[in-house]
Amino acid sequence: MTMQWWRDAVIYQVYPRSFADGDGDGVGDIAGIRARLGHLRDLGVDAIWMSPWYPSPMADAGYDVSDFRDIDPVFGTLGEAEALIAEAHEAGIRIIIDIVPNHISSEHPWFKAALESETAPERDYFWFRKSQNMPTNWIGEFGGTAWTKIGEDTWYLHLFTPEQPDLNWEHPEVQREFESILRFWFDRGADGIRIDSAALLFKDTALPEVVDGEPHPFHDLDAVHDVYRSWRRIAEEYEDRALIGEVWMPDVERFTNYLRPDELHAAFNFDFLGCAWDPYLMRSCIQRTLDAHARVGAPPTWVLSNHDVTRHVTRYGRTDTTFSFENNLDGTPVDLELGTRRARAAALLTLSLPGSAYIYQGEELGLWENENIEPNQIQDPMYARRGHTRDGCRVPLPWSGDEPPYGFTAGTPWLPQPAEWKDRTVQAQTGDPTSMLELYRSAIGLRVFKDQAFAWLDRGEGVLAWTRGTDFACVLNLSEAPVPLPEHRDILLASSPLDGDLLPSDTAVWLRLR
Ligand code: NOJ
Repeated sequence: MTMQWWRDAVIYQVYPRSFADGDGDGVGDIAGIRARLGHLRDLGVDAIWMSPWYPSPMADAGYDVSDFRDIDPVFGTLGEAEALIAEAHEAGIRIIIDIVPNHISSEHPWFKAALESETAPERDYFWFRKSQNMPTNWIGEFGGTAWTKIGEDTWYLHLFTPEQPDLNWEHPEVQREFESILRFWFDRGADGIRIDSAALLFKDTALPEVVDGEPHPFHDLDAVHDVYRSWRRIAEEYEDRALIGEVWMPDVERFTNYLRPDELHAAFNFDFLGCAWDPYLMRSCIQRTLDAHARVGAPPTWVLSNHDVTRHVTRYGRTDTTFSFENNLDGTPVDLELGTRRARAAALLTLSLPGSAYIYQGEELGLWENENIEPNQIQDPMYARRGHTRDGCRVPLPWSGDEPPYGFTAGTPWLPQPAEWKDRTVQAQTGDPTSMLELYRSAIGLRVFKDQAFAWLDRGEGVLAWTRGTDFACVLNLSEAPVPLPEHRDILLASSPLDGDLLPSDTAVWLRLR
């Protein structure tokens, strides 16, 4: 019988460069993750999603893969990856790995062969075009043009950096290769695949211009669904394997097309991630999510942060609490106390809605965005193209001690950690009932309601409340004044102290009703 564990799992994203460093070079690695697996076991997560760990020139922090069947030496070896998978399984933790099908590294043997000769078969695995002028007006996902010229009159397409040439998914060899890569990792015990840029794979072969207000000719083309149907068939040859898509899509209907019963098992809910901290907008986003997923029978996901977006302690501490890449709020004022208070309430929200919840490493410690990284230390290629860096959310984790590197490494961390994080270490928070870490540990441990039916509870304006089954309720006060709690037997958990019998603003509570 299949467990369908992905339907209600708590999934923790490990960003290997910044989790823990085992060899003292300042960059996190598999040895560090293995040494710190106890943290994830104590947290109680069901699965880990590993951001890419493959050999890579690191033009985009490993999202430029040069070999999908090995591990980059900076992270360790294939043997260590296999040992990590086995140890995680022993600890009852599943492993999801990250596959990047839209593009590969310009150092991948395929692209090197394609550059060597115009007649190489590999040439057709990419988008090469001969033209005096740039073939189209397409702007890449990091900003800047999507074409790079080689030689006199030849261009190749890259929706990200020039070091990430796009693959031509019309080509059967590209399709075959990725099917084989999936099997390679499923055979090694991977329980799931996170699919990078899942909606971008196919391009309109006529290469039309982008026209304002019209769908992009390189986004969400129908042919992509056939790929995921074939991947689903492969996943089902194994037991209990999940496919999870990174699908950025404003149209919820088109988003859930990826989650039809013969396609992906789940996809990240970026609609929710970008939503303002506002009772009406939050409630309608949650309802929209539940309705859309119910239509296709897929589990909703709840995501607050990841390695690409501003950490939510920072977002929720700003006047504008939304997130989008187009609206750069870097450096605008932040009230970290308010952001932390809201982040605590958000944890109880995401961990009690139906579906699976994603935790981005450091979120359980209440880390905020480091907005004080010197430009010369920034490694994120987005910075040069868009003026926004994602490095602020990729800063190495603080484990112990009073000053950087907080037990992350015996060397110098690859990005600077704030001095204020001395109160944010795992060591400092462990055993402190008021800490973010203990809030997450308690909440994850209390999710016994996770398969119970959801129903809204009406608690008046500005309050979001719901029940799971007959015994459990979550109440979140997004209004400006304290509100009374519904009748209850016990308070299981509160994100901030209550005000007598009242639930203060920006506070969530879990109640046992009877
Ligand atoms: C999405 C990944 O999450 C991001 O980090 C990466 O830069 C792009 N896809 C390109 O692979």
